[in-house]
Amino acid sequence: MGTQGTQESNQQATAGGTGRRALLGAAVLGATGTVLGLSGTARAADSSRSGKGLGSLPVPTVIGHRGASGYRPEHTFGSYQLALDLGADIVEAGDLVPTRDGHLVCRHEPEIGGTTDVADHPEFAGRRTTKVLDGVSTTGWFTEDFTLAELKTLRAVERIPANRPHNTLYDGRWEIPTFEEVLRWQDEQTRKRGKQVWIYPETKHPTYFRKLGLGLEERVAKLLHKYGKDKKNSPVIVQSFEPSSIQRLNKLVDNPLVVLLSGATSRPWDFVEAGDPRTVADLVTRAGLREIAGYAQGIGPTLDLVIPKDAAGNLTTPTTLVKDAHAVGLVLHPYTMRNENPFLPTNFRKGTDADAYGDSFGAFRTYFATGIDGVFTDNPDTGLLARADFVNG
Ligand code: G3P
Ligand code: CA
Repeated sequence: MGTQGTQESNQQATAGGTGRRALLGAAVLGATGTVLGLSGTARAADSSRSGKGLGSLPVPTVIGHRGASGYRPEHTFGSYQLALDLGADIVEAGDLVPTRDGHLVCRHEPEIGGTTDVADHPEFAGRRTTKVLDGVSTTGWFTEDFTLAELKTLRAVERIPANRPHNTLYDGRWEIPTFEEVLRWQDEQTRKRGKQVWIYPETKHPTYFRKLGLGLEERVAKLLHKYGKDKKNSPVIVQSFEPSSIQRLNKLVDNPLVVLLSGATSRPWDFVEAGDPRTVADLVTRAGLREIAGYAQGIGPTLDLVIPKDAAGNLTTPTTLVKDAHAVGLVLHPYTMRNENPFLPTNFRKGTDADAYGDSFGAFRTYFATGIDGVFTDNPDTGLLARADFVNG
């Protein structure tokens, strides 16, 4: 069964060393005492980097995951705005799913019971249903059963209140953004800040939606074209867990494209539907990466593909993924760094409280030392400080 990166959906995580200062060209000692090999050259973050497009971004690039979702309900303008205010290089705005009337909206999943107040709307009680979503029986309310006007009557809430109780302060404050609103917001913010704002939208469950007559890629391409953001150097990177979605986009737009990679044993859902037996383990071979490099500029692997964990959840030795991806010209933007204990490798946790922060600086340092080009994080401010530490040695 494909996991499609939905493993985090609607889950509240519970908690069950510090690496030495990273030195370029040296080795860094992981918290378990394991010596982690460095990839060799790490490119320094530098806001004056020359070039356009991807080449203009500081490295390692700090990507605000679902905005600044460590501090605000995810995929809201409150979250996106804060990500920019904190200094994120790119804002993941947004994960894209369609409405019944064909608009693209920003939600991590089509099921919106965990991220909106839909359950408090008696007029929508009859829309609650069970569907099979990429092979997984899922109960709740689905964006494809609502018009945009109906969705706009809902308000966003914190997905993981057990880990982020303070974020519930903002429940009910923001509506669900559309992708078109995001594109306009990007331009407004670029003007106001005098600095190019980047976004990193993702096509969610593209095969599922295409079968419903709601193909995502044409809709994304049409909007990017409308706003003049469908070029190679446009400040929009598009990502997907389904390689065929990225291949389709590659024919429609010239934007930088990124193939997301879930756990090694998972299969992208489009592969499952097409009878392609390959798993992510096949895609991260040199041959698999070469193939991806034929239609994409990067990969977004789960952090575990960069440094696997042992049975206790401690980091072990980095894989060759960074080197192998770079060898075929792909950048790596792994996901997802979060400050709270349950989301950190065991050896970077502090105590067991599910809403307490662990040693995320130690974890950032260890991941940056592998040579990754960037990282998705719910806490862009932490990521930026960690990058400064890393770059300044
Ligand atoms: O897009 C990178 C990361 O967001 C992938 O995971 O499940 O949070 O969309 P997910
Ligand atoms: Ca995403």
